[in-house]
Amino acid sequence: MENFDYYNPVQVLFGKGKIAAIEQLVPRDAKVMLTYGGGSIKRNGVHEQVTRALRHHDVTEFGGIEPNPRYETLMKAVEQARREEVGYLLAVGGGSVIDGTKFIAAAARYRDGDPWEIVSRGARVDDALPLASVLTLPATGSEMNSNSVITREKTREKLSFSSRRVFPRFSVLDPETTFSLPPRQLANGVIDAFVHVMEQYYTTGTGDAIQDRFAEGILETLIELGPRLVNEQPEYASRATFTWAATMALNGLIGCGVPQDWSSHHVGHELTAFHGLDHGVTLAIVLPGIMHATAASRRGKLLQYAARVWNIDPASPRAGELAIERTEEFFRSLGVKTRLSEHGIGMETIERIVNRFRERGESALGGIPDVHAGNAREILVSRL
Ligand code: NZQ
Ligand code: ZN
Repeated sequence: MENFDYYNPVQVLFGKGKIAAIEQLVPRDAKVMLTYGGGSIKRNGVHEQVTRALRHHDVTEFGGIEPNPRYETLMKAVEQARREEVGYLLAVGGGSVIDGTKFIAAAARYRDGDPWEIVSRGARVDDALPLASVLTLPATGSEMNSNSVITREKTREKLSFSSRRVFPRFSVLDPETTFSLPPRQLANGVIDAFVHVMEQYYTTGTGDAIQDRFAEGILETLIELGPRLVNEQPEYASRATFTWAATMALNGLIGCGVPQDWSSHHVGHELTAFHGLDHGVTLAIVLPGIMHATAASRRGKLLQYAARVWNIDPASPRAGELAIERTEEFFRSLGVKTRLSEHGIGMETIERIVNRFRERGESALGGIPDVHAGNAREILVSRL
């Protein structure tokens, strides 16, 4: 493993009934803005639990943060936070609400220009409102990391930023809040967590035994759990395992000291930007293509993945291919379509995406140079 500094200051409160504990954790000397999405928290009782816990706090609300949160919407929240002199943000929802709230936190204190610069050109975040989260959708890891992905409707861009200043102060992970999730979002969450692991594991890295075993453990858990989560009635134990697996997939731990390749995400974000596909769906489409394209350059890791995760004999002639097929079959077993044509997407979009990468001069789409603007076209064509 390479040298690394691991920093993750998020306090996690995990388990049934933990929402009540936020009463003690949210400061009382600041006005709190509760942020949420399209209303799922009102239908499943989470909003009620949160407002009960904050009954002695001064609370204002901002709802309507959409999936793939939009800059245009978030700037309205920024105006409200400034107008009402909000001093603390509490995000209640999935990754979109938490990511959006991270942007609100940074934008509210960004005084040097248009806050979009934080995302578009990585402008430094020197200050941000403190924030915390109550997670209702295990998938992104946003509850325990410093990342945020924001979409700008006008220009159809979906871009990310990362700053230590937007780590949540604490996050509540109550698996019971996931009981109301529809199968589509459960499938998205399983795939997102799976691909987060892959982007830190299926790389050119070799010999990082502890990181590899952590990663393989999460992958195997998701494979075992996924179809049950999507097809069976909710039950606490499996939701708890799923919640923790998704958090561990992207809280920085398994990525310490190892090479990373975020190309499936990079390409996937473009599919969402142009067509609005769910984040998890884009990953299920792109990852198998990236794996094919890198099967030779990452042969050792592919065979390790085949053997350890799918119990395929690595000496068999098609071991790598088989592992890629199994991966795609796994995504499909969750009810997700893994081909561009199944979503009505064809060459026109592929050309637009590839042109974007070329214009940006991207020589390594996700961090490792075997996936680049030059082979993006071939990768996407293989997913038609
Ligand atoms: O908006 P509401 O009404 O709350 O409904 C949401 C939304 O429609 C619903 N939902 C959430 N919790 C629910 C629920 N429905 C019923 N019961 C519940 N308990 O699910 C829908 C999708 O929610 P969303 O937050 O968009 O999903 P997800 O958590 O998958 O987040 C996706 C966003 O996160 C970004 C993605 O790009 C995308 O924009 N990511 C963030 C990352 C990070 N911060 O590290 C990394 C990821 O790779 C990802 O890029
Ligand atoms: Zn993701």
